[in-house]
Amino acid sequence: MSQLLRAKISALGTYVPPRVLTNADLEKMVDTTDQWILDRTGIHERHLADKGVASSDLGLEAAKKVLAQAGIGPSDLDAIIVATVTPDMLFPCTACLVQDKLGAKDVWGFDMNAACSSFLYALQVGSRFVVSGDHKKVLIIGVDIMSSIIDYTDRATCVIFGDGAGAVLVEPATDDSLGLIDFLHEVDGSGGCSLFMPAGGSLNPATHETVAHRMHYVHQDGQAVFKFAVRKMAEVCERLLQRNGLTGKDIDVFIPHQANRRIITATADRLGMPADRVIINIDRFGNTTSATLPLAMQTAREEGKLKKGDMVLLAAVGAGFTVGASLLRWAF
Ligand code: UT7
Repeated sequence: MSQLLRAKISALGTYVPPRVLTNADLEKMVDTTDQWILDRTGIHERHLADKGVASSDLGLEAAKKVLAQAGIGPSDLDAIIVATVTPDMLFPCTACLVQDKLGAKDVWGFDMNAACSSFLYALQVGSRFVVSGDHKKVLIIGVDIMSSIIDYTDRATCVIFGDGAGAVLVEPATDDSLGLIDFLHEVDGSGGCSLFMPAGGSLNPATHETVAHRMHYVHQDGQAVFKFAVRKMAEVCERLLQRNGLTGKDIDVFIPHQANRRIITATADRLGMPADRVIINIDRFGNTTSATLPLAMQTAREEGKLKKGDMVLLAAVGAGFTVGASLLRWAF
C-alpha cells in the first residue's frame, strides 16, 4: 500500500458558451420580469450553448485551459472524471468523449452524477486516487448544458439555469500545509421527487407520451428545494468546520454552489461570514449545476479574492437530495 498523501488543486480552467440570455430576453418568452428574477434568484443573465454543442465540447475547452495552465499534455493525465447531469448521451460516458477529443492516451475515466453536488463529489473521488498514491494527475470537469433539459415555457425553471464548464487538475501536494483537508457529504433520497427529470431513463424510456407530457424536462418544487438547501448547506458546513476546530470566521473564501443568491447569503450569515469573503457570480451565469463551483473559483481568482494559502470552504446542494462541503487550503 502506497503512503497516503495530500491532494491539491493545481490548475483551474473554465469555459462558457458566448451566447447570453438576459432577463429582458426571458420577459419576451414567458410571463416574468427582470425584477422578479433578480429579487428571487439574484440572476441577471446566463450563457446558453448553441444547438449541436454538447457537454463534451464545453468540457473540452475548460480542460484545454487546465492543461495549458499546468504546462502538461493530455497524455500526462491518469484519469478524467466528468461531473454532469447532461452527458452528451446516456452512454458512452462524456469522460470518454472528452478523452478522445483531447487526444489523451493511456488514461481512464468515467462520469459522475450527483446533480448540483456532482463537481464537489467528483473532486473528492478524484482526490482519493491521488491521496492513495495510485495517480498523480486527475482531471475533474464539471459541465452542464442545462438548456438541453429545460422547458422554456415553464417560467418557474427556465429563468434559473445556464450552461457552462469548469475543470481542475488534482495532484499530490508537495507542501503538506496546502490542499484538500476534509469533506462531509450526505444524501437524502426522500427528496428525489422535489427536483428531477422524469423520463429518458429506465423507469420512463422515451415514448410519444413522455414527450407529449414534457417529461424530458427538469421538474422542480422550488420551495421544497429552497427550504432543504438553506437548512442543510449551513448545517453540513457548520459540522465540517466544527470537527476541524474552525468557525466561519476562519474561512478566507466561501465558494458555494450558485443556485439562488438568497440560499448563499442565508448560509453565509448563519456561518458568520462577511459578505466580501463570499463568492457570488450567479448574476452572470445562473445555475450551471455541475459547473458552478469551478466557475465561482474562477470569479474569485479574477477578483483577487483567492490566493495561495487561503482557507477555502466549498459547499453544494442539489437534486437527490445531495449536499456536501469541502475544506481546503488553496495551493496556487
Ligand atoms: O441547484 C439546486 C437546485 N435548485 C435550487 O436550489 C432552487 C431552490 N428554489 C428557489 O431558488 C426558489 O424556490 C425559486 C427561485 C425557484 C422560486 O422562488 P420562490 O420565491 O420560492 O417562488 P415561489 O415558487 O414560491 O413562487 C412565488 C410566485 C408564484 O406565484 P403566486 O402563486 O404567488 O401567484 C409563482 O407562480 O412567483 C411565481 N413565479 C414567477 N413569477 C414571475 C414563479 N416563477 C416566476 C417567474 N416570474 N419566473
